[in-house]
Amino acid sequence: MWIDAAATIDEVEKTFYIETFGCQMNAHDSEKVVGTLVHEGYAQVESPDQANYIFFNTCSIRDKAEQKVFNRLQHFKNSGKGKVVAVIGCVAQQEGEKIFERAPHVSLVAGSASYTKLPEMLVQLEKGNRRVTGLSLDTELTFDTPFTRRDNPHRGWITVIEGCDKSCAYCVVPFTRGPERSRTGASVIEEATRLAGLGYTEIQLLGQNVNSYRDPSPAGWDFATLLDQVGRVPGIRRVRFTTSHPRDFVKPIIDAIEGNANLCNHVHLPVQSGSSRVLEAMQRLYTREQYMERIQWMREAKRPIAMTSDIIVGFPGETERDFEETLDLLEEVKYDSIFSFKYSRRPNTAALELGDQITEEEKTRRLTIVQERQRAIQMRQNAELLGEEEELLVESWYESTGQWVGRTTRNRTLSFTSGMPDLLGKYVRVRVMRAGPNSLTGEIIH
Ligand code: 5AD
Ligand code: SF4
Repeated sequence: MWIDAAATIDEVEKTFYIETFGCQMNAHDSEKVVGTLVHEGYAQVESPDQANYIFFNTCSIRDKAEQKVFNRLQHFKNSGKGKVVAVIGCVAQQEGEKIFERAPHVSLVAGSASYTKLPEMLVQLEKGNRRVTGLSLDTELTFDTPFTRRDNPHRGWITVIEGCDKSCAYCVVPFTRGPERSRTGASVIEEATRLAGLGYTEIQLLGQNVNSYRDPSPAGWDFATLLDQVGRVPGIRRVRFTTSHPRDFVKPIIDAIEGNANLCNHVHLPVQSGSSRVLEAMQRLYTREQYMERIQWMREAKRPIAMTSDIIVGFPGETERDFEETLDLLEEVKYDSIFSFKYSRRPNTAALELGDQITEEEKTRRLTIVQERQRAIQMRQNAELLGEEEELLVESWYESTGQWVGRTTRNRTLSFTSGMPDLLGKYVRVRVMRAGPNSLTGEIIH
């Protein structure tokens, strides 16, 4: 949004800029923050120089993510003079008022459970309060707003559950996002219907652990029912969800996918480690065998379901043998893709107390091996797609290469050239002609 030349001084002063770090939950939270602030009369601007309020929506999942935020804040120590600098999101919740000590130019610190109170907090600053915080992990409130400003005109994110009740030994999320709170099924359907009316055809349901979704209304839908119902909203052609915890991933979810063609053929089911011993130390609440049982359900489905995962290497006490078990699991499952990370020590987490930390050097070695192994698997998997016909939702256009890029139901991106005008948001059929480990190229089928 641009500022009208005729705007009053008051209006001009209410400009904000927002920068987002972290996961899709955070990116979607920013969409809600933007919508709420715009509704309150603030104008979004595209660079920090033009803004009176600078927001950093932050991530603290690994130390590196957190350091990035503090480096960025440092940059605004001088250039942020005369502006309000606000830290929101996971680092805000985790570090709280300590942020004011580390970065004295920050005036507002608020976690995700306090976003509904943001306009109020800004008013307090406008009244002259030097520092304002919103750090309660209010279990009653979810940030459910009709004002969301979505960045993508075709694929709409919808939060169905906030927070996390698990206590994985490495993870900050239960501390940064609080306990689980589900939205009513009716409000999710209402939002999906509204999005369909605006021309959205793909919905992505979000939560730290969507599988433990439970409708708090008397309808009492579980996640499989919610998924199926969203897939039945007229106008919606694709439904995805993220992220799943294997412990709560039940067979009815696969049954829902099989029974409803609008539910995408893709499940992200983070395993973290292939060793039951490490899984126990991580407090993941499942064994390798129980995880593989869930993979088997997906393999038995009538439609080919793409499977992706997250892997952590170098968790305290992970032996060479445990690590080999992770490599072996990669070969056994043959994921379509994975995100892999070096274990990072996080404040408040149970794993902080564990001895037998793995050196940084060794973690790097293991990460490289995991990534090489997975690359070879993807190379083989993608080669099998040669000649296949895929339906794509076209998501972007790259002027420099003259290529369109779209996504398949199995969450693969595929690029292709076409003389056809404006394909953005359209569904097209493409034949796969070339395959690399991370990319597919095709030709449009007329
Ligand atoms: N160190 C490394 N990776 C982590 N993840 C979560 N916490 C940590 C940590 N402390 C990874 C997990 C999770 C993904 C979102 O981030 O793999 O699934
Ligand atoms: Fe980062 Fe986790 Fe917070 Fe997402 S929920 S922003 S991944 S710490």
